[in-house]
Amino acid sequence: MHGKTRVASNQSLTVPPALEMRGISKRFPGVVALDRVDFSVRGGEIHSLIGQNGAGKSTLMNILSGVYPPDEGQILIDGKAVTIGHPREALRRGIGTVYQELSLLPNLSVADNIFLGREAGNGFVIDERVIVDRARAVLDLLGETAIDVTARARNLPLAQQQIVEIAKVLSHEPRILILDEPTAPLAAEETRRLFAILHELKTRGLAIIFISHRFQEIVAHCDRGTILRNGRLVLTLPLAGVTEEELAERMIGQQVEGCYRTEDQTRPDSAEVLLEVNGLSVGDRVHDVSFALRRGEIIGVTGLLGAGQNELARALFGIAPKAAGTIRRRGREVRIGSPAEAIDQGICLLTEHRKQEGLFPDLSVKENMTLPSLGVFRRGGVFLDNGRERDAVRRFIDALHIVVRSAGSRVRTLSGGNQQKVILARWLMRDLEVLIFIEPTRGIDVGAKAEIYGDLVRLAGEGKGIIVVSTELPEILGLSDRILVMHGGRLARVVEREAATEEGLLATIQGGHADGV
Ligand SMILES: Nc1ncnc2c1ncn2[C@@H]1O[C@H](COP(=O)(O)OP(=O)(O)OP(=O)(O)O)[C@@H](O)[C@H]1O
Ligand SMILES: [Mg+2]
Repeated sequence: MHGKTRVASNQSLTVPPALEMRGISKRFPGVVALDRVDFSVRGGEIHSLIGQNGAGKSTLMNILSGVYPPDEGQILIDGKAVTIGHPREALRRGIGTVYQELSLLPNLSVADNIFLGREAGNGFVIDERVIVDRARAVLDLLGETAIDVTARARNLPLAQQQIVEIAKVLSHEPRILILDEPTAPLAAEETRRLFAILHELKTRGLAIIFISHRFQEIVAHCDRGTILRNGRLVLTLPLAGVTEEELAERMIGQQVEGCYRTEDQTRPDSAEVLLEVNGLSVGDRVHDVSFALRRGEIIGVTGLLGAGQNELARALFGIAPKAAGTIRRRGREVRIGSPAEAIDQGICLLTEHRKQEGLFPDLSVKENMTLPSLGVFRRGGVFLDNGRERDAVRRFIDALHIVVRSAGSRVRTLSGGNQQKVILARWLMRDLEVLIFIEPTRGIDVGAKAEIYGDLVRLAGEGKGIIVVSTELPEILGLSDRILVMHGGRLARVVEREAATEEGLLATIQGGHADGV
């Protein structure tokens, strides 16, 4: 093995890459997920794995972390061929993985989650206090001082769960660190902190593999990128000086169109008010929020994570405890105490907790689209006959470019982004008037994002009212007629689209006031 690393011409011993994957293939029934892919990562680099939804990124990483065996190919660590038969073996070999799907045990505390399986590592039972202190120390290192390590994991907001997941993997002190879409649930500030850590780990020589659909952070922070398309390697390239557009074009293989609303679309100034919210408060998370959503309008709601925007959306769908204030639908005051009541009022919500509240992984794509969320409104009888149902499912699979063998495939066999599209389709295909989406394009590749924005704009044009809650400012600026900025649970500012700038919004998001606008 060592002979191979000697370079004859200069006599020096070249260091083999920390990780090399050679000719990796993986087939699932009916799909070639990976076709002879070569991939290598050096110690001391952040290497981005790039590709559209379903390109094979997670599959390649699952092979590296011992979740699946490859059908063909070889894995070398520091130049030595290894087999990785099990995730525990990967961890033992220094490969730490933050999976695309969060894997915390919801009923255990944060501290217990971080140290799971190691409490009695060498025959000693470490007492709970030590675990709590150590968990605290790991999170402090990540700059996360606000997380209560004794809280149950399930009571944490999604972004904090993601951070705990990262802390857990880092506590194993891996040499090769895989992060599969770690920033998807994070907003700008958490993302900035994560990259500060990654840069620090990189200087310590870690090989870091980073997956994301946000090209901005890829070009800003990664050293090299490897692009996959339909399970095949396109190329590996250094990212210095590469623009987001170039990267998108290389990934998709053709030019990417702009995907936001164009200015000449008319705004529905005098349109009917579909939803009017007055003095809405939710516990101590949301205080006294009032606004009105008109027919044909898209309202964007943004703020720091935890500024109350998600709770506001949840309250409108009847899933926020202790909500107070009034909600009017088309002028009439209504009570929305449960999702069923919300849906009766023509209101739907795409929540941020897709796993608990959204998808049924063992049901088919078709069933996931046509069954209502939370099992509450079959009685609504949206689709009367099977034929229509089948056509609608087919149409959305095509329109959103969902990569799936058939409408009967189980949702758990879809890639992360394609699962997200299925749940989005569920709401887009229903005839409800008020559509509320929390982070609708999380984990969705740039090409498919354009399709989804197109759909939202079309639905608004057909007279629906849409609320998009998002921490991605380009998305908020590109889609919204009006932007609500939340800060500390309050509505800090309402900006009309024409008056909105990224800098102005950022100032309000961070400071809660309108300085510097
Ligand atoms: N367990 C499985 N059973 C069947 N098919 C699978 C399984 N896991 C992945 N696939 C298929 O393999 C292909 C690659 O999926 P993968 O999850 O690797 O994509 P990805 O690049 O990570 O996409 P995303 O950006 O959406 O997360 C997809 O067609 C997917 O449906
Ligand atoms: Mg994936």
